[in-house]
Amino acid sequence: MAVDPDELSSAIRDALGESGALGATVLQLARRIDGSPGGIRAVLGSLRDRGDVLRIGRGLWVLRDYERLDGHRDFVDPAEFVERFRSEQGVALGVYRGPITFRANEALPVHRWWPYVQGYSAEFVDGVLDAQELGRGATVLDPFAGSGTTLVEARRHGARAWGTELLAPAVLAARVKTHLELDPLRLERAAATVLARARDRRVGLLPFLRETERQFAPSALEELTRLRDALPREGTPIADALRLTFGRILIPSSRLHRSPCLGYDRRSRSDGPGPFDRFASAIVDVAEDLRTLGPERPKLGPPATVEARDAREGSWPDGTVDLAVTSPPYVNGMDYVMNYKVDLAWLGYARSYADLAALRAREVACDNLPRTETRAFLGTRGAPDPWLAELLPRIRENVRRKGTYRRDDMHAVVHRYFADLLPVLAGVRRALRPGGRCVVVVGDSLLAGTYVPGDLLLARLAERVGLGIVAVEVARSRRSGQRRSFELRETVVTLERARSAG
Ligand SMILES: C[S@@+](CC[C@H](N)C(=O)[O-])C[C@H]1O[C@@H](n2cnc3c(N)ncnc32)[C@H](O)[C@@H]1O
Repeated sequence: MAVDPDELSSAIRDALGESGALGATVLQLARRIDGSPGGIRAVLGSLRDRGDVLRIGRGLWVLRDYERLDGHRDFVDPAEFVERFRSEQGVALGVYRGPITFRANEALPVHRWWPYVQGYSAEFVDGVLDAQELGRGATVLDPFAGSGTTLVEARRHGARAWGTELLAPAVLAARVKTHLELDPLRLERAAATVLARARDRRVGLLPFLRETERQFAPSALEELTRLRDALPREGTPIADALRLTFGRILIPSSRLHRSPCLGYDRRSRSDGPGPFDRFASAIVDVAEDLRTLGPERPKLGPPATVEARDAREGSWPDGTVDLAVTSPPYVNGMDYVMNYKVDLAWLGYARSYADLAALRAREVACDNLPRTETRAFLGTRGAPDPWLAELLPRIRENVRRKGTYRRDDMHAVVHRYFADLLPVLAGVRRALRPGGRCVVVVGDSLLAGTYVPGDLLLARLAERVGLGIVAVEVARSRRSGQRRSFELRETVVTLERARSAG
């Protein structure tokens, strides 16, 4: 049956009007107005040429009227929150200067052993440690330790480093990277033994991930299974370093990349070195760094403690921490489990999809949080902050208006995210000595067409649990994944436990 282009065009306009600032993809439009994706694409093309619609990123289309979010009835823009924060908290936004992202670490000894896109720069941590002028033997905590950037630098400053982290490959990275006493020669010999054993082994079983054969070329899979099966069990410093190095070569040996989310490469990478060669050269890097850092050993702080534990438990001993430096997941920012599922599966930390789901339920909420979790959570408590009490219904209403958003309980995910942060902040507040500071790197978000000032909300929650806000400084701007033209920021929030006990 022929479809009248004018009718289709007005149906598309109506559907986009309903979706408002959130926009809709071709497939969502096709479902909504029962049209063919091809026909809809063609009409969208001509509407775009006439300047009536535009693409805002991730395949989303909006009516021209929604090109800018500000000016729309229920949109509260970032500047308005900054102003409210200044009048309610008495703190104006400042500027942080210096590299903040992990990228700078990729060329640095030790930090390069396990590149973690979600980490921050060692230079940032150094700057914070220097500014606090901590004496030797001070204690530094990172409740969301990730790959251990804070812990490595704290040890190198002579401090006692203490971290908690849930993502097992990151825990492994933090443990290996803080154990700088490792003998490089013993490591090289152990790696040579692993490689010799791997060359003699048969090809092993693939991990449980359904897409493994799409992720890797057959020759890479053969070498990786043989290498994995030749590795010693986790638990000694040498075994851990060998296992981390195996983890480090997984993505470079695959057809995947992280930028920062895990995705497939457009071009094939079949001509690169194989896993055996990659493993051998990664070990050379680790051994070289251990030799370079050898002279620093006498100045290192005591051995670091890296606990594979939920930061929400927050059970660090009271009043023992001089400084906390950390970065939690950002609101709706990243599904760490999805992004590190290859590492989790190949290193044996997850043996099924149920294992991945169980881990995701314990991590600070992201937008892939199992629905059972939001269902269990909804209605059990009120929003922990008045700003949040305003924002949550707005997110809910935007999602309802759009009708086809990827999950209709997005407001509950955001609610749980902040409810997850609250006990961590309270735990850090208790753990800090009076006068101790907590420096947090965090970002804001654009969610379902609603701006969520995650950084300012975190500062407000911190104030609620008894931490004073010392400074809120913008370190860089980021682009929203939902709407490329919308500018977000990454912020350094400095908090302090009051000097008088209490
Ligand atoms: C932004 S990353 C931290 C990166 C770190 N600063 C670095 O440089 O490597 C946030 C980390 O929080 C961890 N995380 C999320 N929920 C957690 C929880 N409930 N307990 C402990 N760690 C958690 C994630 O696994 C992730 O590694």
